[in-house]
Amino acid sequence: MLQFTDEWLEKVQSSTDIVALIGKRVALKQSGKNYVGLCPFHEEKTPSFSVNPEKQFFYCFGCGTGGNAFNFLMKMDNLSFPEAAVRLAELAGIPIPSTSPRYEQEIRQKRELYHINHLAAQYYYGTLVSPRGFKAREYLIKRNISGQLVRQFFLGFATSEWHGLINFLKSKGVEIEKALEAGLIIEGQKGPYDRFRNRIIFPILDHQGRFLAFGGRVFDQSHPKYINSPETPIYQKANNLYGFNLAKENIIKEDSVVIVEGYTDCIALFAKGIQNVVASLGTAFTENQARLLARFTNNVIIAFDGDVAGEQAIGRGLEILKGQGLNVKVAVLSPGDDPDTFAKRSTKGEVQEWLRNAKPYTQYLIEKAVFANDIDSLEGKLLASKEVVRIIVSLDNAIERQEYISFASDLLAIDKQSLSIEVAKLEEIDKKRNFPHILSQNRHTKEDRDVVESGENLLERRILQWILAKPALLDELLNIGISWEDFENHKYQHLLRLLIRGTWDQQGELIAEELYHDNQPLSDWENYLDNFQLRLYAKELLKIEEKLISLEKDIEILPTKREIFQVIYEYYGIRKRIFLLNERNINEGPLERGGIDER
Ligand code: UTP
Ligand code: MN
Repeated sequence: MLQFTDEWLEKVQSSTDIVALIGKRVALKQSGKNYVGLCPFHEEKTPSFSVNPEKQFFYCFGCGTGGNAFNFLMKMDNLSFPEAAVRLAELAGIPIPSTSPRYEQEIRQKRELYHINHLAAQYYYGTLVSPRGFKAREYLIKRNISGQLVRQFFLGFATSEWHGLINFLKSKGVEIEKALEAGLIIEGQKGPYDRFRNRIIFPILDHQGRFLAFGGRVFDQSHPKYINSPETPIYQKANNLYGFNLAKENIIKEDSVVIVEGYTDCIALFAKGIQNVVASLGTAFTENQARLLARFTNNVIIAFDGDVAGEQAIGRGLEILKGQGLNVKVAVLSPGDDPDTFAKRSTKGEVQEWLRNAKPYTQYLIEKAVFANDIDSLEGKLLASKEVVRIIVSLDNAIERQEYISFASDLLAIDKQSLSIEVAKLEEIDKKRNFPHILSQNRHTKEDRDVVESGENLLERRILQWILAKPALLDELLNIGISWEDFENHKYQHLLRLLIRGTWDQQGELIAEELYHDNQPLSDWENYLDNFQLRLYAKELLKIEEKLISLEKDIEILPTKREIFQVIYEYYGIRKRIFLLNERNINEGPLERGGIDER
């Protein structure tokens, strides 16, 4: 990674004339101190785009885009900050900071790998279009993949030879070592051989058009359906998206991207004119992929397979995309369909309509929750409403909430008012506990009510789970005077002591690990805390009672009335606190059994 010093960036900035830079891309006219022109970032007929040479920044009064020379290039050419900095430095003739020899070697090594992959892609393509590729071409035709698509996606064919690619690369002067590093060949017991044999080849390129890796598909039903290049110095599955090189311009133009799962889905949509499409290649969507997309657009349509796996992938992918601040919609397919099969039997117009009808994430979730239940039955309706309430509570925007309350109440055929009330209620509870979403399928109500096995204490465990999930709760515990000595289970005592002291050891790690993996708390933090406190009070009461009894019995010491009163006063103080605690919990709903009478 290039490291720029502030001085260097300063120098680049001061050697750049923003008027000259922008003037090359936008026709500018002087107007007073500033220069004005038509904004390149939105459609307009009268100029509201202005460049200020004095402050070296630009601003559009129409769309609000503005910034310095770096921002202009980043926005204009979709560059990252370092890319823009290098571009500006080059324009100004400023040397790029000399980098470590190791970094340079890394760059050299990567260039070599791109080059080898490019050679391989040419080899596979050449084979596909040669007489030897007849069978493969036949297969592609069967799948509606035209010659034009083959060229656009640079598809190829690997024959069943064991040394086809190796011999080709050798003839090009490539060292075997390097081909191994690129993942194109495998070191076997009898020497190296080609990784991809008897497969259709899908090269994976990055958005700058460099050849990163390959996927190879069989022609028949055999397994594995695809094999892919391993991770190499230039290819990390989690950082790339298939088809990005072809889609980039269209993603910018359409200001949206369609994400599918498979190679063939990507190609099929592309063929139908949906050219802002990329494929995640069947793996879980990652943050890096989301960040890559976010550089080009904020609008994402997910079009995954209409099966359960696809649905689950949507769930995970969406959270990550949303985490990057992207607007996410879901284009839904019926079970058994994937974008490829759907596109194949649909017209271009139908495919466009399907994407236009993509549902906002929340709507998709709500519909899924409703249709997963039989809402004609009372029970189903309640289950669905509960899930819907959860989904709505997770929305931050009040207007959006109102909209979805309306939407969901119609769908569920329930009263809008009641749904609002339930949402408000759950929000109140969530505010108090702020615990990570507990999915209903992870709940183990019964287990939570039962006293724990073999001397283990459930209440203590639950309290620690809460604290592990939300460390600020530790203070709450300490503030009401509970400490590790009040815990009974040795393991939990130990963990709590570590947490209080802010230290860590291996045993603690093991216990924490175990708690993370256990079922998560079902009930509110307050609930457990109250129960724990009740348990402590009960112990105190027991002690006082014993003391009273001994005082009354002890004629030798002859306790003063004052002493006895003192103890009785304490006694009633505790009784009162217990009363108040219970009262509070009655008002807030039933106390879960699991406290004082648990032991
Ligand atoms: P699919 O099984 O949906 O494949 O896997 P597909 O691309 O739709 O292929 P067709 O239409 O059956 O020919 C989706 C993606 O998951 C990855 C590939 O990237 C594939 O495109 N995958 C799948 C593998 O890497 N290996 C496999 O064995 C299967
Ligand atoms: Mn598929």
